[in-house]
Amino acid sequence: MDEMIGVSSVKLFVRETAGKTLLFVHGFPLDHTMWKFQIDALGREYRIIAPDLRGLGASDAPEPYTCYSMDAYAADLRDLLDELRVDRVVLIGLSMGGYISFAFRRLFPERIRAMVLVDTRAEPDSPEGIEGRMKAIESVKAEGPKSLVEGMLPKLFAPSSLNEKPEVVQDVRAMIERQSPVGVMGALWAMAHRPDSRPDLPSIDVPTLVVVGEEDSLTPPSMAKEMADSIPGARLAVIPHAGHMSPMESAAEFNEVLLEFLRSVP
Ligand code: MLT
Repeated sequence: MDEMIGVSSVKLFVRETAGKTLLFVHGFPLDHTMWKFQIDALGREYRIIAPDLRGLGASDAPEPYTCYSMDAYAADLRDLLDELRVDRVVLIGLSMGGYISFAFRRLFPERIRAMVLVDTRAEPDSPEGIEGRMKAIESVKAEGPKSLVEGMLPKLFAPSSLNEKPEVVQDVRAMIERQSPVGVMGALWAMAHRPDSRPDLPSIDVPTLVVVGEEDSLTPPSMAKEMADSIPGARLAVIPHAGHMSPMESAAEFNEVLLEFLRSVP
């Protein structure tokens, strides 16, 4: 079922199926369609909620972009669960979706049954990183999200995916190009202002899986290992032949690892 759901001041687009509930939170500057291989493969066994975050995909893009934050995204998701009358979820977030998962856990820990942190990091941006976000905001303001594409694609994918999986790369290119400028600027602003989540890691007390593409250059396996080591009992899975977009680049391997984890979650 696809529908638009009003949460606080904005209406969010959401794709939903029936069963035990998984909440998929997409990365930047993407939308729920990045999870299409997981929705197709797991949709019969699990209830999947795959929203577009505010400002992205088919969801509303409120202005100004400075009103976007990790806490605002997390509050939207909590409101969405309330609207859908869902109590607890397995929270699955990729990259920016992981940053949002950390905020969601700080604010609404009682709504989380288990966590899957995919190609993400707990560290905040460095000063150079923040400067880069501000420059990106200016370029999106001037030329739209397409100005980010050429710089981003080589960072999102493993070199082998860039050469051998043109349809996946094309999907992501089109996804970036169709996003709303204000939503993309809002996400950049929110990422630049996100807090350090590292102090929270030792208190995560739900089953947690950390997943990373073997060739992820943005959030590399060494970073994922450090994160997994800081979360009590967390498992780490490294997906071969994949970069930062592991759920799209190596979907079959990613789904296998995810399913094995989900079946172990009480
Ligand atoms: C993402 O995939 O969500 C972004 O790479 C996150 C980031 O830029 O930090």
